[in-house]
Amino acid sequence: MDRLASSPRLMIVSDLDHTMVDHHDPENLSILRFNALWEAKYRHDSLLVFSTGRSPVLYKQLRKEKPMLTPDITIMSVGTEITYGDDMVPDEGWVECLNQKWDRNIVSEETSKFSELTMQSETEQRQHKASFYVEKGKAQEVMKTLSERLVNRGLDVKIIYSGGMDLDVLPQGAGKGQALAYLHKKLKDAGKLPKNTLACGDSGNDAELFTIPDVHGVMVQNAQEELLQWHAENAKNNPKIIHATERCAAGIIEAIGHFKLGPNISSRDVTDLSDAKLDHFDPAYEVVKFYLFFERWRRAEVENAEVYLSNLKSVCSPSGVFVHPSGVERSLHDCIDKLKDCCGDKKDKKYRVWVDQVFPSQLDSDTWIVKFKKWEQTGEEQQGCLTTVKVSSKGVKPSEGLTWLHVHQTWIAGTTQNTRNDWFF
Ligand code: GLC
Ligand code: MG
Repeated sequence: MDRLASSPRLMIVSDLDHTMVDHHDPENLSILRFNALWEAKYRHDSLLVFSTGRSPVLYKQLRKEKPMLTPDITIMSVGTEITYGDDMVPDEGWVECLNQKWDRNIVSEETSKFSELTMQSETEQRQHKASFYVEKGKAQEVMKTLSERLVNRGLDVKIIYSGGMDLDVLPQGAGKGQALAYLHKKLKDAGKLPKNTLACGDSGNDAELFTIPDVHGVMVQNAQEELLQWHAENAKNNPKIIHATERCAAGIIEAIGHFKLGPNISSRDVTDLSDAKLDHFDPAYEVVKFYLFFERWRRAEVENAEVYLSNLKSVCSPSGVFVHPSGVERSLHDCIDKLKDCCGDKKDKKYRVWVDQVFPSQLDSDTWIVKFKKWEQTGEEQQGCLTTVKVSSKGVKPSEGLTWLHVHQTWIAGTTQNTRNDWFF
C-alpha cells in the first residue's frame, strides 16, 4: 500500500473462485485478458485486492494452479485475515477487532450438535472462521437455529451461506464487506482513499462487498443463486451494481467499461499488436505487448512473422544485451535472430506467458527501468523469472515504441528452472 504516493485511481476488490478465476475455462483466457489489462494500464497507480473464502493454504495452492497476478492486499478466510504485499504481512489490528463476542470453542461445541453440518477440511478452520458443508434445502433452518443458540451463549456471530454448499460462522465484525470497510478507513486516514472501488463477486459471501458506501459492484454472469436472490431483495434498484453478461474476469472487464472506470481494452484482444500504437511513451504497455507477442510467436499464432521480427530488431539497440538467468550474455540482436528457432515450438502445448507486478520507474527524461515477473506456463508447469528491462525514448516517436537497451533475468526461487540453455526472453 505504501508504494502509492497518492490516492489509487482504481481499487479492485475481487473474489477468486468463479470470479477472478474461471474453473470452467481450461485455457484461462478471461483471467489472462484481465492480467494484461491490469499490468499495462492500472498496476502503477491502482490497487489490486483479492478477497477470498480460502485459507492461506488453499489460496497458495490456487496461485500455483492458475495464472494469477500478485495482489497488493490479500483478504482470506472470508474477510477474517488481511495481509499486505508479496510477503503477506498480516494486519494485526484487524485480528484484534475480531475477538469481540467471539469464542471459537463455543462455536465448535454448538455446531457439533447439528448432524446436518459436515466439517470442512482442517485447513479451512481458522481462528475467526468455522466452516462446514450443508445441503441447500437444510441451510436456512440450520442457520436460524444455530444463530439463536449462539446468541444464547453470548456470542455475536455472522453466518454466511455460499456456493449452495458452504456455511461459514464468523465474528459479527468480520466478513468480506467489513474487511473492505476497514481498508477504506485505513486508506482514508492515510489520505489515500481510492478514487473508485470496484467489488467483484459471484456468491453469498460476496454480497456484503456490495453494501459498502461508494463502491461499484459487479456480480459476474455466472453468479450463484444466493447472490442473485440477495440482490433482488436488497439492491435491485441500485445502479452501482450490475449483473454482467460475461463470465468471471471477463465480467470484471465489462464492469470497468460499464462504469467508465478507465481503459477496458486488454492487449490480448488486439489481434495485430504491431497496429496498436500509442500517442505517448508507455514502458509497462511495451512490456505487456512484447510478452504477448512472445506467447503468440511460440504458439505459432503470429502472421506476417518476417515483418514482425524486423520490427522487433528495429526497437532493440544494436549494442543491447540480454543476460539470461544462467548468467550467459548475448546481444539483443542475436536473441531476435534466434527467435526463429522457437517459432511455433509450443504449438498445441497449452503454453501461456504473462507478466506480473510491472513497475516502471523513470531514470531521466528519456530512460526507464521496468521491473516485473515474467511467468511461462506449459501445461501444468509454471516457471518464473524476475526481469529488469531498460528502455529509452531517445530519437524515437511514441508510435514507434521505446528502444530496448538491456534485459536481465534471474530465476524466481522455488519455481522450476529450465535446464536447457534457452536463448529466449
Ligand atoms: C472457500 C473456503 C471455504 C468457505 C467458502 C465460502 O471455498 O475454502 O472454507 O466455506 O470459501 O466462503
Ligand atoms: Mg466465489
